[in-house]
Amino acid sequence: MALDEPRAVAAEAAAACRLTGIALSRGGRRVLDGLDLTVGAAERVALIGPNGAGKTSLLNAVVGLAPITAGRVEALGRDLSAAGARAAVRGETGYVFQRHALVKRRTVLSNVLHGFLHRPGAWRAWSAMLAPEAWRAEAMEALAEVGLADRAADRADRLSGGQAQRVAIARALVRRPRLVIADEPTASLDPAAGREVMSLFSRIVAKRGVALLFTTHDMADALAYADRVVALKGGRIVLDRRAAEVMPGELEAVFDG
Ligand SMILES: Nc1ncnc2c1ncn2[C@@H]1O[C@H](COP(=O)(O)OP(=O)(O)O)[C@@H](O)[C@H]1O
Ligand SMILES: [Mg+2]
Repeated sequence: MALDEPRAVAAEAAAACRLTGIALSRGGRRVLDGLDLTVGAAERVALIGPNGAGKTSLLNAVVGLAPITAGRVEALGRDLSAAGARAAVRGETGYVFQRHALVKRRTVLSNVLHGFLHRPGAWRAWSAMLAPEAWRAEAMEALAEVGLADRAADRADRLSGGQAQRVAIARALVRRPRLVIADEPTASLDPAAGREVMSLFSRIVAKRGVALLFTTHDMADALAYADRVVALKGGRIVLDRRAAEVMPGELEAVFDG
């Protein structure tokens, strides 16, 4: 779908997600504790905080993968408690994970086509040979966006870690999601490759005008590639600031004491 179509215009006006007073428990423990967070339709938000702070749980709650015990989750204009809302929201959300989970023995192009798998008739995406021409064209466009069009026919296991993660980004973007969720997308890469991937990712998301909510352990990445930084600790938000307004040492302080 082209960016100038009505849906994209409507998305500008609405928030990508709005969490109101959400609480979430895991194994009898309170993991998120009365948390409020709104992410704008074209905003890039970095979520930081120590291990166990609840970052992954928060990402899961946004798309209804983790059941909340209190509060309200709205994503892409839908209340997630409404019938059918979760499937609709997941269909318009792209995901990038720490482990890129490409199918190693498939081509790069096939792996990007797997991004279409949720659609009706999606079994066609399993094989690049069977995929409709329109999907192939979209997948090639997404590969070009991450600078890997020339690797389309290569097997995925021929790629470096950074290249593989760029393919995972193309796979997440091929359906033209309005919201992209990335859980530690660079944690398995060395710092230089991680910065390169995150820089590209952040630029593509900005260019497409969609929302990005990502977690990272790298404070420099949080400041460089997000518009806003949100720090979680013990299931609560302890800092929420425009990246440009974060003071030196402020983020590191979240991890101390
Ligand atoms: N499936 C689960 N069962 C039990 N406890 C869990 C589960 N998933 C997460 N937790 C606990 O919830 C807390 C928050 O976890 P998580 O959201 O993964 O934090 P983070 O991503 O910030 O490291 C941790 O204490 C973790 O041990
Ligand atoms: Mg996590």
